[in-house]
Amino acid sequence: MENGGDTASTVTIKGILGLLMANVSDKEERRLISLGMGDPTAFSCFHTAAVAEDSVVESIRSRCFNGYAPTVGLPQTRLAIAGYLSRNLPYKLLSDDVYVTSGCTQAIELALSILARPGANILVPRPGFPIYELCAAFRHIEIRRYDLLPENGWEVDLKAVEALADSKTVAMVIINPGNPCGNVYSYQHLKKIAETAQRLKLPVIADEVYGHLAFGDNPFIPMGVFGSSVTVLTLGSLSKRWMVPGWRLGWFVTCDPNGFFKTPKTVERIKKYCDICGGPATFIQAAVPRILEQTEEIFHKRTISMLKQAADLCCKKIKEIPCMTCPQKPQGSMALMVKLNLSKVNDITDDIDFCFKLAQEESVIILPGLTVGLKNWVRITFAADPASLEEALDRVKSFAQRHTKKLIEQC
Ligand SMILES: Cc1ncc(COP(=O)(O)O)c(C=O)c1O
Repeated sequence: MENGGDTASTVTIKGILGLLMANVSDKEERRLISLGMGDPTAFSCFHTAAVAEDSVVESIRSRCFNGYAPTVGLPQTRLAIAGYLSRNLPYKLLSDDVYVTSGCTQAIELALSILARPGANILVPRPGFPIYELCAAFRHIEIRRYDLLPENGWEVDLKAVEALADSKTVAMVIINPGNPCGNVYSYQHLKKIAETAQRLKLPVIADEVYGHLAFGDNPFIPMGVFGSSVTVLTLGSLSKRWMVPGWRLGWFVTCDPNGFFKTPKTVERIKKYCDICGGPATFIQAAVPRILEQTEEIFHKRTISMLKQAADLCCKKIKEIPCMTCPQKPQGSMALMVKLNLSKVNDITDDIDFCFKLAQEESVIILPGLTVGLKNWVRITFAADPASLEEALDRVKSFAQRHTKKLIEQC
């Protein structure tokens, strides 16, 4: 598979999107449509549950949560997150397994910080989420990328994982439901990942920030289900399922019934990290128990139905675009990967060029695949209202048609 080399460790999605936005023509009268960022709140059809809003208001009004919280999180927040995650596990998590973080981003940073040691390396998916590579680079952890296999539902290439791991490997990362690919792994595949990690004696960092956002054949299964055979560090947040990425409420959880991450030394390290960074605002933490316990199923069902419709629309429109193919319909999350066939177009050298020209000519933003580790692919976020999605993809189609080589040139 053609890949993006080291680029993903030096770029951020926000950085590239900023450059693309700056490239939108001043003369453009049509509105800018961004399918670049995983922030559904940019589209008014996506909003959080009323109980979540009420809970934050109640928490502020109580005047009880204006002070500092313990840096590992409020006890009631830790307990509520433990209870919420335990609903889908064959064992019960304890409050002490949970550390409340500033979004899932800080949970990633926490995981990598406590695993860092001289000469360490970490196995990350390609395509993946660039924050892992940035954090690893900051902590001097060597990045080793294993491929996700598009023709197999973006499953993990487990042979590659076996070949890449050595005695200095500190963890493997999986993202399920997946960003950028929209994969949702089956129980069987997760079991194989667990068996591989167990053989290699590796903890699995399970990024479940899109947990439960699954609308295809496979239900969402948390990796923690395999916690008794392999140590799992589960990372998550309210950001996606509750559509409040700005609330910065996440968690780092040790799904580790055998207690490898519960030795006094490790717990001390985690707590010290939390002391350095602090966590999310206390009043948001205080709102969490009610949010997790009282959000009605109908809210989640509505979100899933909207995402499924958006994903279907996106795939249908992509089929009409001459130089694009989507090898796998997304089964969850909010994004999908699309392959560019650049031999069919004129004047476009690669995915970056494609996205910059698209921004300039059509005021549509999509993310170059290189940003997530795959050259000559693009990532499209489909968490948008149907009208915007349709208009954006119609513009991509006009762009592609305008740049398509005449048949004689293609021969
Ligand atoms: C795979 C993945 N992990 C982590 C994050 C960060 O989540 P948060 O916004 O809660 O910090 C994102 C955000 O898009 C993501 O896609």
